[in-house]
Amino acid sequence: MSAAVWASGLRKRYRRRTAVDDVSFSVARGELMGLLGPNGAGKTTVIKMLLGLVRPDAGEVMLLGRPARDPASRARVGYLPELFRYQPWLTAAEVLGLHVRLAGLTVPDAERRECLGTVGLADRAGDRVGGFSKGMQQRLGLAVALVARPEFVVLDEPTSALDPLGRADVRDLLLSLKERGVAVLLNSHLIGEVERVCDRVLILDRGRVAAAGTLPELLGGRELRLRLDEVSSDAERRLKEVGELTCTGEEYTVALRDPEVIPDLVADLVALGVRVHAVEPGRVSLEERLLGILRAGGER
Ligand SMILES: Nc1ncnc2c1ncn2[C@@H]1O[C@H](COP(=O)(O)OP(=O)(O)OP(=O)(O)O)[C@@H](O)[C@H]1O
Ligand SMILES: [Mg+2]
Repeated sequence: MSAAVWASGLRKRYRRRTAVDDVSFSVARGELMGLLGPNGAGKTTVIKMLLGLVRPDAGEVMLLGRPARDPASRARVGYLPELFRYQPWLTAAEVLGLHVRLAGLTVPDAERRECLGTVGLADRAGDRVGGFSKGMQQRLGLAVALVARPEFVVLDEPTSALDPLGRADVRDLLLSLKERGVAVLLNSHLIGEVERVCDRVLILDRGRVAAAGTLPELLGGRELRLRLDEVSSDAERRLKEVGELTCTGEEYTVALRDPEVIPDLVADLVALGVRVHAVEPGRVSLEERLLGILRAGGER
């Protein structure tokens, strides 16, 4: 089966400013891909090119096996735009109905009501959107993106206005989409959220792909945090043998090449007279990794 989306060599310039430069990637069916990067990195522009809303200067996009501009594939894609604003005079149920009609689809009433329930708006279906809070409008946007049971869902910062409970609901929602085999592209500045739900991550920086891969690929091997004192130069040498070492006061952090070395390492440190107060295995967080990648990029 074809990928949900396949993009190759995407480029976009606005006057003299290059917004997107040679970006290629794909999202498989049932895969949740996170799109990360600083403000202005080109994330929204990439999303708009995928959906045929912005014409690329170069590159190619296949959406659900067809060219991106083909309306037949667009109808099977759910999209929550970054900047959403719905007709204030319509009720939530009417906004949903309007979008279903505009997409040329039919969705039974019961399914529409269920969809509003999924985003926590069941008891506001008959209320005008003009009186909705920002978070409630964002929830409605999610309902619009999901109502027609799309095969590919693109969410451009879906939780920026949501409360913590709403964010947790969206995480559950994303995982249930994935279980149904729906592909998701999630653009978010909430890195912890991306780390919790995404299978793969694409990091953009100044229009280019700065890094891409599965979470284990990006986060690499395990990290070991140690609280030590009386560390001799021999002990320090031993620590450096097993991976890259950083040290702040009594806190030593080793990016281990091989997690199997931990018991031998601890035994050797004790034998070398080091007092071991704590040994804590961990993993580099996606946030640390992202900041590392962006800072390294900035120095180039
Ligand atoms: N319609 C437009 N006209 C001119 N320049 C644009 C337009 N849309 C985007 N740009 C420029 O393209 C670059 C990328 O913008 P884009 O909105 O894709 O960034 P982003 O990664 O989504 O950022 P953010 O995290 O702030 O949403 C920016 O320099 C922006 O100023
Ligand atoms: Mg954006």
